[in-house]
Amino acid sequence: MTTQIDSGWEPRARWLADELTMRGDVSDRAWIAAVAAVPRHVFVPEVYEQDQTGRWQTVDVTSAAGLDRVYSPVTLFTALADRGTHYEGISSSTKPDLMLRMLEALDVHDGHRVLEIGTGTGYNAALLSHRLGDDRVYSVDVDAELVEPARERLASVGYRPTLVTRDGAEGIAEHAPYDRIIATCSVPVVPQAWLSQLAPGGLALVDLKRGTGAGNLVLLRRERDGLEGRFTERWAAFMAMRHYGEPARAIESPNLRDQQTRTTTTPPNPWSENRVVWFLAHFTGLPVGVRFGMRFDPDTRQPTAGTITAPDGSHAFVMMEPTSDGEWSVTESGPTSLWESVERAHDLWEQHGHPDWSRLGVTVNPDGQQWVWIDTPHSPASWELHA
Ligand SMILES: C[S@@+](CC[C@H](N)C(=O)[O-])C[C@H]1O[C@@H](n2cnc3c(N)ncnc32)[C@H](O)[C@@H]1O
Repeated sequence: MTTQIDSGWEPRARWLADELTMRGDVSDRAWIAAVAAVPRHVFVPEVYEQDQTGRWQTVDVTSAAGLDRVYSPVTLFTALADRGTHYEGISSSTKPDLMLRMLEALDVHDGHRVLEIGTGTGYNAALLSHRLGDDRVYSVDVDAELVEPARERLASVGYRPTLVTRDGAEGIAEHAPYDRIIATCSVPVVPQAWLSQLAPGGLALVDLKRGTGAGNLVLLRRERDGLEGRFTERWAAFMAMRHYGEPARAIESPNLRDQQTRTTTTPPNPWSENRVVWFLAHFTGLPVGVRFGMRFDPDTRQPTAGTITAPDGSHAFVMMEPTSDGEWSVTESGPTSLWESVERAHDLWEQHGHPDWSRLGVTVNPDGQQWVWIDTPHSPASWELHA
């Protein structure tokens, strides 16, 4: 590909490789070489970013400033879907710092065969192809409109990994087993196919999320016939797998409760300040499909309250500013007390000595039964995972 910007990408790619090394995101020389060698701009010909008002704007990736942005550790949104009232990012090139941390955590060695879930732009498939050889790289995306351009871009820089359009929850059975599986979209449970397509001793790095922001990357090892492993400290926010992630529809509720206000000793904002509590709340009663948001002061534009809404019409908002007693005001309405689930999760987290992600893990049995645990797989503090 010869475009005007081709001349300027190489020093920028080397800068990105050095920057990620300096920040401690990558230390393996083979991955550093891959970052310096793969032209990320080829994979992101169209980039969209939200301005301060939330409106999507196109980034001119042919300008020097645009190219600087492409070769920097930022997520680049590359596909939007029209949701009627707003546009939503449905594919992106993941932040290179996160991507490289994930690739290193995967402990990839020469000769490994890797399955990627979520081809997106193809950039990560290009990094993998540079590292392992394209005959050892397999990638699947649910969206043919993403896979075909990714295939062309990869070929234009000399890589021909195996790309398949399919629901990634099925993996790519015809080329299994894989030594490594890396999922770049989140799932509420670990798909059974990933277990059966992973070689004995193989590793799978999976973003396990029970709702928006509610979960994290878990590194699972295939041991005997099952999978087991712990969550990583590094948090990631991959988009939900589309077949699971469709917006939940609100259901009519016959007994909507009137609005009630009380105080709480549980700090507000668990979805950003205490994500372990936010995750646990999905095992202590928070329904599937919950969304959170913020209310802002129109003058200062500072957040005044966090909001939680559930598909059954339940709603809660928690004031950010504490009361004079050092508590927080909570107002709830609807059939389910959403904040009570968060309070129960917060109590649980306190009872267990404030566990961080590294104390939480996941086990998947050969029959597909799977659960989240604190400290050990047989701990009484464990919760079964259902789709
Ligand atoms: C963050 S992007 C992936 C980034 C990509 N690895 C790259 O290097 O550009 C997430 C991708 O997951 C894909 N995806 C969503 N649901 C999927 C599903 N059910 N199966 C496979 N891919 C899916 C989306 O289409 C999107 O391209």
